[in-house]
Amino acid sequence: MQIFGIPIFPEQASVFAKDVDALYFFILAVCAFFAIGVSVAVVWLGLKYHKTHDGQIGARIEGNLPLELLWSVIPTIIVMFMFGWGASVYYHLRRPPDEALQIYAVGKQWMWKFQHLEGQREINELHIPAGRPIKITISSEDVIHSLYFPAFRTKMDAIPGRYTELWFEAQTPGVYHIFCTEYCGTNHAGMIGSVTVLEPTRYQEWLQGGGLDGTLAQRGARLFNDLACGTCHVDTGTGRGPSLNNILGTTVALQDGTTAVVDEAYLRESILNSQAKIVKGFQPLMPTFQGLVSEENLVALIEHVKSLSPKATTAAAPATAPAAPAAPERKQ
Ligand code: CUA
Repeated sequence: MQIFGIPIFPEQASVFAKDVDALYFFILAVCAFFAIGVSVAVVWLGLKYHKTHDGQIGARIEGNLPLELLWSVIPTIIVMFMFGWGASVYYHLRRPPDEALQIYAVGKQWMWKFQHLEGQREINELHIPAGRPIKITISSEDVIHSLYFPAFRTKMDAIPGRYTELWFEAQTPGVYHIFCTEYCGTNHAGMIGSVTVLEPTRYQEWLQGGGLDGTLAQRGARLFNDLACGTCHVDTGTGRGPSLNNILGTTVALQDGTTAVVDEAYLRESILNSQAKIVKGFQPLMPTFQGLVSEENLVALIEHVKSLSPKATTAAAPATAPAAPAAPERKQ
């Protein structure tokens, strides 16, 4: 939206952009109505009832129950309506559909790094297909950032030490802004990028042109080898660490009697802070990998572990099944 050639509002380029805008403009209109109404009333009543000569005494006015009820009940209804509407939009924004295409983002002073499951890696640029829900799992390598797509009307903080996520479905092919909306140091204002929404067929073409390292999971498999994770985590479950086959989404019993659901956050913690949750029947032998594995490699490792759970991951399969050659094993 432009007023006198000045861009006032970003384009509506995602499925919920219209919902967010409708709510925003409704709240803006209600606020403007009351702000203007009260201001006009203050000025008009001030002029109408101002003191005209000495010795004037104002009329004595007691309470007025119907009036007081009216100005309590009507605003309550209006704000509860805003609350209900806001909650429903928020609910939609915060619940990615199961079939969403997974992309990883890492915030770092001062850039955004994106990784696709197919292996493509981008900095301050993101290519996505139109008409498909996209889920972005976000982490940070240093301080708090915030990943913001104004045209998609969604944003989420990138918080060191944990995963957050957002989702959207872009409708219109085009190029849109990416901003960081959390002050993160000197070059915060320069932490910008662009997201390119492609027609699905163009997106397939784009996918073919990258990912020289193989898929994200294949890169994770190589790391898994390099870090010698497989010495303990053997498939048969007879190793010093639990087998990682088909663990995604399962509930595991822990040494301390509690249980944990195996998800990305659990895998992340188990790699970086390996003593935090010890699976029942195993010794706390695993070293910590804090500081040894970057955020980008961490998501590759997690994707590798997820790929060992074929049943749990079919719902969110990558856009293509790339026929990348088996990754050559590297020696440490
Ligand atoms: Cu990153 Cu502001």
